[in-house]
Amino acid sequence: MNKILNITQLAPEVFRMEVEAPLIARERKPGQFIILQIDDDFGERIPLTIADADPDRGTITLIFQAVGKTTHLLAEKRPGESIAALLGPLGQPTHIEKVGHVVCVGGGIGVAPLHPIAQAMKAAGNRVTIIMGARNKDLLIMEDEMRRIADELIIVTDDGSRGRKALVTEPLKQLCEQTPKPNMAVAIGPPIMMKFCAETTRPYDVHTVVSLNTIMIDGTGMCGGCRVTVGGETKFVCVDGPEFDGHKVDFDNMMKRLRAYKPREDADHQAHHCRLDAAAARLR
Ligand code: FES
Repeated sequence: MNKILNITQLAPEVFRMEVEAPLIARERKPGQFIILQIDDDFGERIPLTIADADPDRGTITLIFQAVGKTTHLLAEKRPGESIAALLGPLGQPTHIEKVGHVVCVGGGIGVAPLHPIAQAMKAAGNRVTIIMGARNKDLLIMEDEMRRIADELIIVTDDGSRGRKALVTEPLKQLCEQTPKPNMAVAIGPPIMMKFCAETTRPYDVHTVVSLNTIMIDGTGMCGGCRVTVGGETKFVCVDGPEFDGHKVDFDNMMKRLRAYKPREDADHQAHHCRLDAAAARLR
């Protein structure tokens, strides 16, 4: 059991949770993730990136969006309660080296997994430009943390309520057009955003790393639930990833597989809310 030390809301439906996990806190590296099972033996297992860790306190920080049944249940947890199982750290760590100029692109909740990578890229001596994007200003997270790392911070929103009214691909393209062009890009966010970031950098031949967040079950390469096609080959996100060359990922196939369980997930989510409404009515 892993005790929850605190939970705060960062944006509508977005939460930051600090959990006791001393071994994971000591071992984790940027880019790695955990698989979490919330309370019983048969609960859904979901992958979450480790946004930060404090080895001295023996804690890790998870940032998640309450989008499905399990993440809503997680958001209802309170300090002092526990999570039944945390498995990790899993996946390959980010390859960190000094390459020169790295552009880090984070969309929505994707800023959370981007944070430790941007931090490590900066610590390795790179010039780091960070592009953060969200639908509107209320959905931007970790702006202060990213500002502390970035040599240049570019904020964009779909509706122009904060920063430039643009998609993240617009400043990314402008950076690629500069001389010298960036040496590398790291893009993390919704699959469609990562796909178009990769398409933006492709003509400029800027190596682009993406971090994939697929359905996962065992997290050890056994079940095949997380398989994706990269460069024409089958890869498992949990053991081969989560990071891959964005120019080689078959995003259309990945997005199709992600949609496969949506109707079941929506039904479970709806049933969960019905039970909450009924419980609230009994208390009135
Ligand atoms: S989660 Fe089962 S193979 Fe990756």
